[in-house]
Amino acid sequence: MPRGDKWEDSYTRRARTEKWLARSVYKLEEMDKKFQLIRPGDCLLDLGCYPGSWSQYGIKRVGPKGNVVGMDLKNPDRLSAPNFKFIKADIFTVDPEWVLKEVGPRDAVISDLAPKTTGIPVADTSRSMELAKEALKIASAVLKKRGHFLCKVFEGGDLKSYRNSLSGCFDQVRNFRPSASRKGSREIYLLGLKFTGKSK
Ligand SMILES: C[S@@+](CC[C@H](N)C(=O)[O-])C[C@H]1O[C@@H](n2cnc3c(N)ncnc32)[C@H](O)[C@@H]1O
Repeated sequence: MPRGDKWEDSYTRRARTEKWLARSVYKLEEMDKKFQLIRPGDCLLDLGCYPGSWSQYGIKRVGPKGNVVGMDLKNPDRLSAPNFKFIKADIFTVDPEWVLKEVGPRDAVISDLAPKTTGIPVADTSRSMELAKEALKIASAVLKKRGHFLCKVFEGGDLKSYRNSLSGCFDQVRNFRPSASRKGSREIYLLGLKFTGKSK
């Protein structure tokens, strides 16, 4: 993002100073601190990982005994680490069972997947929900028992029924709006804590 951009704020400046690839890292950091999502040695899957700040944070948190796999349409080319692997893929076309074979069982699946926004709220909300549903299918295929799932969605639409589907396969479900979410943004994060089994 160019300096002086209208989107620049204190989180953007802090991310630049602290050498994170995006300001969204502070959302994940806040949720990880609050809900203890990621532990040393964990295997993590990051859906919609470009430009890479969540994976970057994950790599730091899991340490050398853990690993992070990122998936996106775009290659996070500024990110490289021995325990990081990138899979270029469209979430709508990957088979969750193929993902499991490719990456192995995961302790946590984090999804910051977001559609290209059109400015038409109903269209953006519905596309975000489609992405969240695909993320849940993948999480259900790869998560270990008691693993965690974090997923961005835009408020509105069938959020309630999505939340219900999480309740069916996690011990606890939470909604959270991080401090770093931009004012006026419709994004919220849903957390499925302690995976209990396959979703229907
Ligand atoms: C908000 S960005 C993620 C930022 C990232 N968490 C970070 O901290 O660097 C959302 C990402 O979702 C990806 N995305 C959107 N639709 C996708 C799809 N169908 N398949 C895979 N990735 C997708 C976009 O390419 C974009 O990089």
